[in-house]
Amino acid sequence: MAVSPEFIEELRSRITLSDIIGKRTKLVRKGQRMSGLCPFHNEKSPSFYVNDAEGFYHCFGCGVNGDAISFLRESDGLEFIEAIRRLADMAGMVVPEEAPVDKQKIERRKTLLDALERTALFYQSSLTSADGAETRDYLAARGLDVGVIKDFRLGYAPRDGLRARLHQHEIADDLIKTAGLVGVSDKDGSFYDYFRNRVMFPIENRQGQIIAFGARAFGDAKPKYLNSPEGPAFSKKAVLYGWRQARERVRRTLPLVIVEGYMDVIAVSRSGVAAALAPLGTALTEEQIQLVWKLHDEPILCFDGDAAGQKAAARALERLIPLLEPGRSARFATLPEGMDPDDILKQDGVDGLQRILASALGVVDALWMQKSAEYRIDDSRTQPSARAAFWQDMRQLVKTIAHNQTRQAFLDDLDFRINSMRAATKGTFGTGVHRNSNQRTVINTRRPKTGRIVQYRAILALLISFPESFGECGEQLSLARFSDDALEEVKKAVIDHLIRDPDLDAGGLRHHLVESGMNERLEEIFSPDTTARFGMPPERLPANKARVMLIEAITRKPGHRMKRQK
Ligand code: UTP
Ligand code: MN
Repeated sequence: MAVSPEFIEELRSRITLSDIIGKRTKLVRKGQRMSGLCPFHNEKSPSFYVNDAEGFYHCFGCGVNGDAISFLRESDGLEFIEAIRRLADMAGMVVPEEAPVDKQKIERRKTLLDALERTALFYQSSLTSADGAETRDYLAARGLDVGVIKDFRLGYAPRDGLRARLHQHEIADDLIKTAGLVGVSDKDGSFYDYFRNRVMFPIENRQGQIIAFGARAFGDAKPKYLNSPEGPAFSKKAVLYGWRQARERVRRTLPLVIVEGYMDVIAVSRSGVAAALAPLGTALTEEQIQLVWKLHDEPILCFDGDAAGQKAAARALERLIPLLEPGRSARFATLPEGMDPDDILKQDGVDGLQRILASALGVVDALWMQKSAEYRIDDSRTQPSARAAFWQDMRQLVKTIAHNQTRQAFLDDLDFRINSMRAATKGTFGTGVHRNSNQRTVINTRRPKTGRIVQYRAILALLISFPESFGECGEQLSLARFSDDALEEVKKAVIDHLIRDPDLDAGGLRHHLVESGMNERLEEIFSPDTTARFGMPPERLPANKARVMLIEAITRKPGHRMKRQK
């Protein structure tokens, strides 16, 4: 029996390689990759890497490499088709029992992709022809140079001429129609070009093959954007615009932002500040969220500050929260009302965008902000019962997280905030505490001198006292760079020890640090100031609270408040 390449491709995209390999060997995240002891040879230090974005593994020790299918074949001695069945099982897919490979179908798909590729070339060449002058001016006026135009393969669809060009390449009308490139006239059944006099944005699949087009009208012509109709090669809900370019940039360790429009993807990626992806004129689907996580652990979703944008953010939160897991999270950035990232870059430049991305909220903050607006929590006329409904609503949503420990951690965090809010309402925290306060603002009011160094010391004090929290925050901690060299060194040493021995307890960890000559640093970290900051020696904090504080302190920028940026 043979399985179609489409099925295998779909299968590969649905499974996450580290989920499979993680069952055989313990994997630890290292930047964009996971690493662990090679399951194929005996080793003491990890030289085996798994790349989920690309779907392959590689061992620098023994040289094995491959994808999910070859992994199961090698590790479990499965036949090809058995490996496929096993994977399909995990992905909840059924292997189609199609008889010998449908050669005709494969051939048809190839010609379809070929027709789309030829079409893109035609649009690209129209852009440089006399016909394309208006588009060239338009793109230049929008600040796009030849480099980006080439990279994104932008083009111009003239009023006609596409069909004739495709006929030259022996591409027949029925295929052109299947590709969504022509419409059929109601009047006389004749064909007309679907895209006419528009700026063309080719849409690629994850292999970089063109599967559809987005097309922008000039001026006020309607609709502003026209997308290819769905077809055998194109399903909107499974595609993100800008994948090839985003993957390249994520590899260069840029953050990944999810935006709304084609022009935003292009503008952001051109800015060099971040990689960018966009769904195609619809809300993010679950499938798209899972795809985004193949490229980045913590994408930043950008939403307009207007009512529609906030509604979209709420919907995205609801869709995303159940899927949260270690290594699968998100941040939420709010743009000034009526502006998209492209506008921001134009108005405030790279700094403006960077500020907005830096102010992106974590999931709980975003949820808190969104729901507190919905329940009018900050309005003094709001009744206490609304506060109860607000808490209940948030807890219910957080309870939908499927991953057990993640759910527990988020519930703990949320409960901690709810309790802080209750305490603040009762007045036990005294003055200066914002209603939506969380422990950090509380800390801030206790230590007005707070600065980065103080924050770094607090993080280290908490982590060294509660090393078991490392699993939850280790990744973020390794990404953060402390701007104080001495403390950065301690941080690195702590991370090293905990990666080497995840079961190390507080005493053991301290012992190692002292042995590496860091006694003085430890004294500085566990100074009376730190005790004052926490109201008690950090090691005496309840473990739960310490954990939440630690995560909070790591994920929060110094001085950052839960205020929406305007
Ligand atoms: P916007 O109207 O915000 O456009 O639509 P934009 O991206 O800012 O475009 P410019 O800057 O005016 O050129 C956002 C996205 O919604 C989809 C497109 O994917 C677009 O990029 N859209 C919008 C459509 O599919 N059809 C439309 O008529 C309008
Ligand atoms: Mn725009």
